[in-house]
Amino acid sequence: MDTSMSRTIFPLFLFISFSCLASNSSAKRNDKPIIGVLTQEYYLPTPNPTAFILASYVKFLECAGARVVPIMVNQTLEEYQTLFKSINGVLYPGGGASITSSGYQRAAEIFYDLAIQANKRGDYFPVWGTCLGFEQLAYLTGGGVTLSFTNTSGVALPLNFTDEAKTSRIFKGFPADLMKDLASEPLTENSHKWSLATLTYNTNENLQKFYKVLSTNTDGKIEFVSTMEAYDYPIYATQWHPEKSAFEWTRPSISHSPPAIRTTFYTAEFFVGEARKSFHTFQSEEEESKALIYNYSPVYTGAEGIYSQIYLF
Ligand SMILES: *[C@@H]1O[C@H](CO)[C@@H](O)[C@H](O)[C@H]1NC(C)=O
Ligand SMILES: *[C@@H]1O[C@H](CO)[C@@H](O)[C@H](O)[C@H]1NC(C)=O
Ligand SMILES: *[C@@H]1O[C@H](CO)[C@@H](O)[C@H](O)[C@H]1NC(C)=O
Repeated sequence: MDTSMSRTIFPLFLFISFSCLASNSSAKRNDKPIIGVLTQEYYLPTPNPTAFILASYVKFLECAGARVVPIMVNQTLEEYQTLFKSINGVLYPGGGASITSSGYQRAAEIFYDLAIQANKRGDYFPVWGTCLGFEQLAYLTGGGVTLSFTNTSGVALPLNFTDEAKTSRIFKGFPADLMKDLASEPLTENSHKWSLATLTYNTNENLQKFYKVLSTNTDGKIEFVSTMEAYDYPIYATQWHPEKSAFEWTRPSISHSPPAIRTTFYTAEFFVGEARKSFHTFQSEEEESKALIYNYSPVYTGAEGIYSQIYLF
């Protein structure tokens, strides 16, 4: 054996074992989190492929240290239950699927119910909804709430934080200067026609009991909830898009400024950090590799499409 090699490895090994002792929580941390991202039906008039995920959601999770598994639509309940026991969190992305009847809605509802049951018995399992995912979560918790039509298709807005934001789980790890930038600069991209009006939230007991509002926004007429987190569950939702600033290049309303990119990263780091508290694993390494998104390649669609890269299934 090369002696110079063993000399460098030995102190490194010591360093690692000391840092493990120093950090009490590392024993209770999953450093190989795998997060499921919901696919949704592809509406363009092509017979094949039939479902998609925007690559920006995958990169968003990967940039903070997670790996991704696509959750296909139209699977059996048993298949979803098995997948639930294999992954450490789930992300409901934005898009155009129906939140009342679609493959996206069905899978979202199943994983939402499984997450609630698991968390109740102390099996930590986080859920994140972005844009359509936010609306889906509001609909599931609110008992079919009515969303309001807002003029918010392609606008960047500063967040109007509530008093609860600073001590919230999502934002408490954000640097103070970034919180200031988020509150004063239009860093968060909104691409939605439907919103959860503050008025609707205020009159829906299910939503009020379940979610704490962390920020609001307005289109000039209707004030809506833009960030929320559940009181008793690791369930989180933003109506805005934390993933777009670093990874989508096709719209003028997406800020690529340094604080916008930091927002992408700090949001991803928060949610992946939540997934590190889950200890679900695949039955075997073989099943894990078969499920990972690495089995698919994203295609570049930014030249003519409204997204830079898409995974098609
Ligand atoms: C899911 O099932 C529905 C209803 O059978 C069908 O219309 C749709 O094309 C299926 N989607 C995929 C992606 O297989
Ligand atoms: C929608 O908002 C944009 C600014 O984001 C504004 O220019 C436009 O006039 C608004 N449209 C309506 C119908 O209010
Ligand atoms: C922020 O929200 C508060 C509470 O709803 C509201 O009174 C205030 O006008 C909002 N500010 C902006 C800039 O929208």
